[in-house]
Amino acid sequence: MSNKSVDLERLVSLAKRRGFVFPASEIYGGVAGVYDYGPYGSQLANNLRDAWWNYYVVSRPNIYGLDSAILQHPKLWEASGHIAGFTDPMVEDTKNHKRYRADHMAGLDSNNLEELKAALKDKKSPDGNPLSEPRIFNMMLKTYLGSVEDDTSISYLRPETAGGIYVNYENVRETMRAKIPFGIGQIGKAFRNEISPRDFLFRKRELEQCELQYFVKPENEKEEYENLRQISWDFVAKTIGLDEKKLTWHEHEADERAHYAAAAHDIYYEFPFGAKELAGVHDRTDFDLKSHMEGSGKDLSYFDQEKNERFVPFVMESSIGLDRLFLAVLTDAYHEEEVNGDKRVVLKLKPELAPVQVAVLPLSKDEKLSPLAFKVYEKLKDKFACEYDQTQSIGRRYRRQDEIGTPYCVTVDFDSLEDDSVTIRERDSMEQKRVKISELIESISL
Ligand code: GAP
Repeated sequence: MSNKSVDLERLVSLAKRRGFVFPASEIYGGVAGVYDYGPYGSQLANNLRDAWWNYYVVSRPNIYGLDSAILQHPKLWEASGHIAGFTDPMVEDTKNHKRYRADHMAGLDSNNLEELKAALKDKKSPDGNPLSEPRIFNMMLKTYLGSVEDDTSISYLRPETAGGIYVNYENVRETMRAKIPFGIGQIGKAFRNEISPRDFLFRKRELEQCELQYFVKPENEKEEYENLRQISWDFVAKTIGLDEKKLTWHEHEADERAHYAAAAHDIYYEFPFGAKELAGVHDRTDFDLKSHMEGSGKDLSYFDQEKNERFVPFVMESSIGLDRLFLAVLTDAYHEEEVNGDKRVVLKLKPELAPVQVAVLPLSKDEKLSPLAFKVYEKLKDKFACEYDQTQSIGRRYRRQDEIGTPYCVTVDFDSLEDDSVTIRERDSMEQKRVKISELIESISL
């Protein structure tokens, strides 16, 4: 029994086949780097959002939630440094004009154009054509606000959710009467015009981020940073329950760090295409609040009444991409097993995260079974995420529920009509036990 063999193609295929993830606008040929979450995928994504929100926001007395707009004042992105610095190096195939990340093509972790030029000197594009010289490409998605499309109406779809938090720092501090240290958490869409989106949900152009900005005293910078690293690790390893053997820390060198970060550690996860960034913890110092003070002319400093002094808070950030978390959870859960000579594909999702927790399955479509089976469904549906399914043979329905990751199937058969009992089948062990309908809820432990 193993999930070692999991490759990306199998995950993509299962995600499509079982209604987790569809390519966006598929009937028109899709859009590179954009995906839609289907019925089970949107439920799993919601469960992951809830897990993040409960862990980071609801369960901490000094963390407040926010849902800021995707469109903000363009000056925000000037002050944050994104207009000047949110860039990736790019090269172009000179014949077919396909574009590639120059650093990926060169196999270098660098944004330095001279270094990249040297490394790419004799390289050809994947189609065997000469490459252009590398140049810098801004990844922000531009749009126009209002009816006139000119330079005065340019706006941007936010490239990270953090920006909306900084411009609301003072609003939240004041309304919540918050004292440093306190944090603001937010979940929402962000947009990046990635040069080469790839690896399914890993590098998207429309993505979702779950971000916490934690405002601290400058003198507590190091301690708070280490604390947030531990909190971020525990979220993926314990709350989400990803296999800890597949998680590692990766510390950024100075030339790898984003323009705002004085220190940065990524949590890498062993994806099917290698160990790559799942989440990031950044020490953003006072860069953000100071930049927005300069940009807006508003005072965002904090007055510490105990010490009778004023300072600009430092920001410690914990950020995770919901799509990458989704992909990591699928990767971890995917298992193939041999059962009686047949291959069984099963998603061993943590029961709390599973999109369907209990499937109620009448043994057949016989109309004698439906009323009781439906009564069982009605009894369970307010306690668990339930599905009622009477289509196809029972064997195929079990296989379908295994692939969706449903921890329990409850089968109603002809004996149930006589003995008021049903069969519970447990997903991972496939063990079946008979229980009284009156004791059913207590028999299912998530
Ligand atoms: N506010 C900090 C920030 O945006 P980042 O490292 O650029 O930092 C944070 O992004 C997280 O967002 C990453 O750790 C990753 O999980 C996710 N992410 C970034 N770019 C992504 C993309 N193109 N597709 C999917 N997720 C992405």
